[in-house]
Amino acid sequence: MDGPHARGFDVTVAHPARVYDYWLGGKDNFAADRAAAEQAIAAYPDIVFSVRANRAFLARAVRYLAGEAGIRQFLDIGTGIPATSNTHEVAQSVAPESRVVYVDNDPVVLAHARALLTSGPHGVTSYLDADLRDTGRVLSTAAETLDFSQPVAVMLMAILQHIGDDDNPWAIVATLLDAVPAGSYLALSHPASDIEAEAQGELARRLNQTMAEGVTLRDHAQVTRFFTGLELVEPGLVRVPEWRPASDLEASSPAGLWGGVGRKN
Ligand SMILES: C[S@@+](CC[C@H](N)C(=O)[O-])C[C@H]1O[C@@H](n2cnc3c(N)ncnc32)[C@H](O)[C@@H]1O
Repeated sequence: MDGPHARGFDVTVAHPARVYDYWLGGKDNFAADRAAAEQAIAAYPDIVFSVRANRAFLARAVRYLAGEAGIRQFLDIGTGIPATSNTHEVAQSVAPESRVVYVDNDPVVLAHARALLTSGPHGVTSYLDADLRDTGRVLSTAAETLDFSQPVAVMLMAILQHIGDDDNPWAIVATLLDAVPAGSYLALSHPASDIEAEAQGELARRLNQTMAEGVTLRDHAQVTRFFTGLELVEPGLVRVPEWRPASDLEASSPAGLWGGVGRKN
């Protein structure tokens, strides 16, 4: 994918979905994204392990939600460019009737939405091009696919770092959780300001010079606040590879994100 205005996107400014895609080894990125991603790698080389650990956490969390927790509805906000183990693939491999609404505001993700809409015959997936901050539109459109009288897993994987404190991400999360009934879940990961603090701080500083959306790292206490009023599922809010890892090797992978799953009782 290249050229100055390929497919009408502004390719001269780096965007989070495409920078993340580059770190994951994907092809859906432009020169500006690759340059920003490489500058970030130079500051914090473990970012390439971190993003893979985050994807693996996403898959384990969805498997838990669809399996042990019996969830059949997923609202996945900040979907990203399709990669390994997308939410509907994992959920429908456990429970084929799972319904998934994807939300993202990047035009490249929108262009790939078809790949996310390949639901199995018993389930449903839909895609909404919207900003997380527009919670009214996110919830009203999601209600066309999801039944909000039944439990929903709200997923905010590696997205809230793009919502600065001025936009009060805690209020945004609370609004989403107010809209779902008891028995619903929040699954969330967030880049940490208190894991490899110096290197990740430099990574964020570099991204904030080059990327369209800013990055705000948060510490364990600030990320814990997103789960206010929820019961954290064991093992609580931990480094993402330590959340129900498949092996000790997986648990020891470098990763600079906090991740957890909480239940609304
Ligand atoms: C780092 S990627 C994470 C992708 C995926 N959730 C994962 O964990 O693998 C963050 C995604 O959030 C999207 N995003 C950032 N700010 C957003 C906003 N305000 N509203 C909707 N999507 C947003 C980006 O376009 C990008 O696709």
